[in-house]
Formats: sequence, structure tokens, C-alpha cells
Amino acid sequence: MSSTAPAAAGNTPAHESSAPAVAVSALAPAGAVVPGRGAAGAGDSYFPTYGNGGYRVNHYDVDVAFNPRTERLRGRTVIRGRATQALSRFNLDLVLGASKVVVNGRPAAHRRKPHELIVTPRRPLRRGDAMRVVVRYAGVPKNRRVGGVRPWITTKDGAVAVGEPEIAAWWFPSNDHPRDKARFDITLRVPRGLEAISNGRLVNRRARGARTVWHWREDDPMATYLAFAAIGQYDIVRGRTNAGRPYLYAFSQQLRNQRPARRSLRATASITAWLERTWGRYPYDEIGGVVLGKWIGFALENQTRPVYSRAFFEFGQDRSVVAHEMAHQWFGNRVAVDRWRDIWLNEGFATYSEWLYAAHTRNAAVGAIFKRTYRFYGPRSRFWDVPPGAPGPNRIFDSAIYERGAMTAHALRRKIGSQSFFRLMRRWVRDNDGNGSTAEFSALAERVSGRQLDRFFRVWLFTKARPRPTVANGFPRRF
Ligand code: TRP
Ligand code: ZN
Repeated sequence: MSSTAPAAAGNTPAHESSAPAVAVSALAPAGAVVPGRGAAGAGDSYFPTYGNGGYRVNHYDVDVAFNPRTERLRGRTVIRGRATQALSRFNLDLVLGASKVVVNGRPAAHRRKPHELIVTPRRPLRRGDAMRVVVRYAGVPKNRRVGGVRPWITTKDGAVAVGEPEIAAWWFPSNDHPRDKARFDITLRVPRGLEAISNGRLVNRRARGARTVWHWREDDPMATYLAFAAIGQYDIVRGRTNAGRPYLYAFSQQLRNQRPARRSLRATASITAWLERTWGRYPYDEIGGVVLGKWIGFALENQTRPVYSRAFFEFGQDRSVVAHEMAHQWFGNRVAVDRWRDIWLNEGFATYSEWLYAAHTRNAAVGAIFKRTYRFYGPRSRFWDVPPGAPGPNRIFDSAIYERGAMTAHALRRKIGSQSFFRLMRRWVRDNDGNGSTAEFSALAERVSGRQLDRFFRVWLFTKARPRPTVANGFPRRF
């Protein structure tokens, strides 16, 4: 869907215009700035250096060894893709130092910029050429602060690579933007006695000298930020759901109170079954989850296997967060953002799924949750200053993205009717090519409902004010 979408240039907020020229290159041909050079960004104005231009990736073979004692990571990643333009050189996103780069069998020149590995192949690539890039690299990811962030997480027994939007560049070279999804093989070499969990299927686990080698494979297209690694001491629980789908849960042995975490994650199977009845078929082959022993502020919807902070299960079960992260498998993972400004399409629908789940399991009414949320943020609240459709790069995880996003979903449902709404949402997921933008979503909503929704979306997504409680804005007649 995204590739044909016109960029919403007319909507560009002021802060976007400060992006360097290369950043807008996705809107023009990627190599337009300097002929033959792949752009240093994917054209995402919120994060101008994330992703690259000039090629697409089909497959990553990430193979890393991690030593928790020194916190050093050594890696060899093989990237298979294709040039989308003639390339005298191209970029990968990587914050660790590379020692060797080989392109199509020949050693290539390479140099480093803060977030980039710039590769000059011996021979330029022609448009359409297959490329196989091998990068050897090493470093201490937790010491790398780039662009003001340092997403690598150290734990007592190991480390965790989870983050959004940034984490990939801290452990493998990539075209780090959700618009370039690829398949992954992930091999993690860790000291014997440690577990190393990642996405998808566990292809094999073997002992090799003092190390255990864990090989994981995700066969469905995945955005780079959704690839993860959890290294440490974990209890692994695996099996098959009633529907025959493999599950794999991992619980940190550092977790003192295991019960609530285990019971919450075990609900993943039935929650997924309920989500399938709500949004259509589950997009992947595996389900699962990982609970960290560390207290961090979040959970992340890593493909097939979300990662949860122990914080969620400290005081008892939390199935709502499981519903949220599993809903992201549809909204966020199967349909990824086209640009990071589209983030409300992830968080709004994941949060709305939590509301629907509360209605399904407790006797809560979705309308009442909507009303409570709307009333909680009074007309003068700063909450309404963040328009979810254009929040700005520093506010992509503002509470408005989540809660006003979910309110938008519910108001839309009321505006076009439940039947059109669920038909729309299922079609959004099913017919999607891997990414979606707000403009594409509103266009599809208009097509499915036969209604004109410009004003509705402007009020809910692009206005720095509390939507008035009118029928036109999707409120009930008596509110
Ligand atoms: N997408 C995550 C969620 O489900 C939240 C999140 C935002 C996050 N930024 C993060 C998670 C950084 C991990 C790291 O709500
Ligand atoms: Zn979320």
C-alpha cells in the first residue's frame, strides 16, 4: 500500500522542514542527491538517518556472539537484497565498528559515521543487481550512545536487545526502517548455561565448546526493530495450542514472583484466538513471549514473541498488556508504519484492542471506557496538544498516541457503524502489502464506509484541541 501512497506533503508540520536534504529522498528517487550514492536515510523526516536508500533487503542472517562478562558483541551478518538504483556506494545502519565488508564476493571499502556504515563496493552495482553483503563487526553495544539514545539493556545475567524505534543498529547492520521488511535467521552464541531467545522458530540449539549456539528463524517479513535477543538465564516453556500453533514462552530466572507472569503469558493462546475472531487470522506461525527479570518501563511487540518488563506482573496478572502486545502483531507488525509519524496506527489499535478485551472479559463497556478517557482529559489538558497523526519526533510515544488513538478508533466505529468498522479493519490487515500510512487508512475507511471522513480525521488526528462531542465526531447523540 505504502509504495503508491502520495506523501502527505501538504500536511508537513513546521518541524519537519529542518530535516537535511537527503532525508526527503524517498519522495524523490533515493539517489537524487548525489548520483550513484544510496541515500543515508529512508526518507523518514522524524528520523532522517534511519534506513537507507538505493536497495531493498530480502534476508538477514545475523550471527552474533555475546559475552556477558565483558559485554562485548562480535557479529557476522549476511544481507541479501537487491539494488533499486545504480550504486557506487550505499549505507547500512550500524553503531558498532566494522572490521570487514564483502560485497558479492569481493572485499569492499567501508567507513563509519555515527549511525552509518558507508560501503563502497569494488564494482558499482547496477540497478536490479542482486547483492550479498557480509559484514564483520564488534563492540560493546551498551557503551554506544548515538543520537542521544543508548537502547541496549544490560541485566544481571546477560543482556536484552529490545527497542523502538532504535535497537537494530546496536547489534546488526541493516536498512533500519520498517518500510524495508525482510526474513531473518538469527544465531546467538552465548556461554554455556545461558539461554538466548529471539523471534520465530527455534531451528536448533547446539553445544559448541564453551558456548551454546541458538539458531532462530522468522520466515515472515519483519521490520528490523522487531528483531530481538534476550540473553540470560530463562526457563523455557513450549508446546502447541489447541489450534495446533507452536508457542514458546521464556521467563527470567531472576523473576522472584513467577506465578503471575506465567499465568498471564499462558493466556497468550486464548487472547490470540480472541484477537483472530476480532481482527482476522493471526499473521504468523508462532506465538509466545519473554518476561525479563529486569524492571524496565515497557513491553515491546517483537514479532511472534513480545518482550515484557517484569514490572507488568509484579502485583498480579496482567492480561491487558498481553492483549496489547499481541494486537500489535496485526497492527504494527503485519501492517507496519509507513513512516514513524504513523505510529498511532500501531498504538491506537493496540490500545483499542485492550478496551475490547476488557469488554470481552470483564463487564466493562467500550463506550464507557471511551467516555471515561475523554472526560479524564479536560478541555484545557495538555493531552490534547499532541495531534496523534503528526505528533513530532519527540512525541511518538506520548499518551495521546495511545489513548487519543484508541478514542479515534472507537469514534470511527461509531461514525461508520460496527459492521463497516470491522470490515475496514480486517481488510486493512489482509490486503496490506506490509506498511500503511494514515492517508491510506483514511482512504480505505472512506471506501469501505462510503462516507466522507476528511473532517472527522482532521479533528481526531490533526487538531491540537479536544474534539467536540458531536455526532459528526463520532459521539453518541446523548453524551
Ligand atoms: N511499542 C511499545 C508498546 O507496545 C512501547 C515502546 C515505545 C517501547 N518505545 C519503546 C518498547 C522502546 C521498548 C522500547 O507500547
Ligand atoms: Zn504498543
